[in-house]
Amino acid sequence: MSTRRPLIAGNWKMYKTVAEAEETARALAGQTTDVDSVDIMIAPPFTALTHVASLVKNSRVAVGAQNLFWEKEGAYTGEIAPGMLTEAGCRYVIIGHSERRQHFGETDETVNKKIAAALTAGLAPILCIGESEAQREADETFSVLDKQIKRGLKDLFANDLRELVIAYEPIWAIGTGKTATSEQAQQVHQFLRGLLAELFDEPFARSVRILYGGSVKPDNIAELMSMEDIDGALVGGASLNAETFARIVTY
Ligand code: 13P
Repeated sequence: MSTRRPLIAGNWKMYKTVAEAEETARALAGQTTDVDSVDIMIAPPFTALTHVASLVKNSRVAVGAQNLFWEKEGAYTGEIAPGMLTEAGCRYVIIGHSERRQHFGETDETVNKKIAAALTAGLAPILCIGESEAQREADETFSVLDKQIKRGLKDLFANDLRELVIAYEPIWAIGTGKTATSEQAQQVHQFLRGLLAELFDEPFARSVRILYGGSVKPDNIAELMSMEDIDGALVGGASLNAETFARIVTY
């Protein structure tokens, strides 16, 4: 039995006004007061972070951001610094989501800088990795993930990475309704844990939470969570509704 505490995280992407975010966060906090064996996180858009963070302050729900920039401050129009996120009440930050890699030119190198900056600021980074459909069909899944992990965590040490969370999100499963089977996900998670053991050490690999993301819903979460190396989920669409997300949290 693993001692890893499950984490169910909601990525709201570019959805919800401040008022909508507050309403959903309030409802979610209310519906999860009895949850004590699972960590819960929601990542609203930047504009709603402060509002949501103060609303959920005394609840089971933690707050995360969807991105950050690695510099502390400076002339970087449009960017948000790590310290600004902690000030806004964030405990987590999602880094390297496939949508950021695809639409905003993020690479394993920028991801690596962002992870280091998040750790320095005391934020728990959620490193997102995953293969495309073409890569899976070409049997490149493991080599793609191997590269994303090695480059994303380059020059970082296990001691500094205690708060690290990894999210395996196969691109072909995001927003498509096509979930990886629990066996497919478990196979990848086991591979990732082995890779972490190789790069760092066994105890570290055993302690890192590896989440699955991609069309997670109330009716497939229990099956995914029954797998040895699946420690939680990063949920997109199904996290936008408080009741649906609360059902996932209480799988
Ligand atoms: P869906 O749950 O909508 O497939 O999105 C997954 C995701 O991208 C979470 O980061």
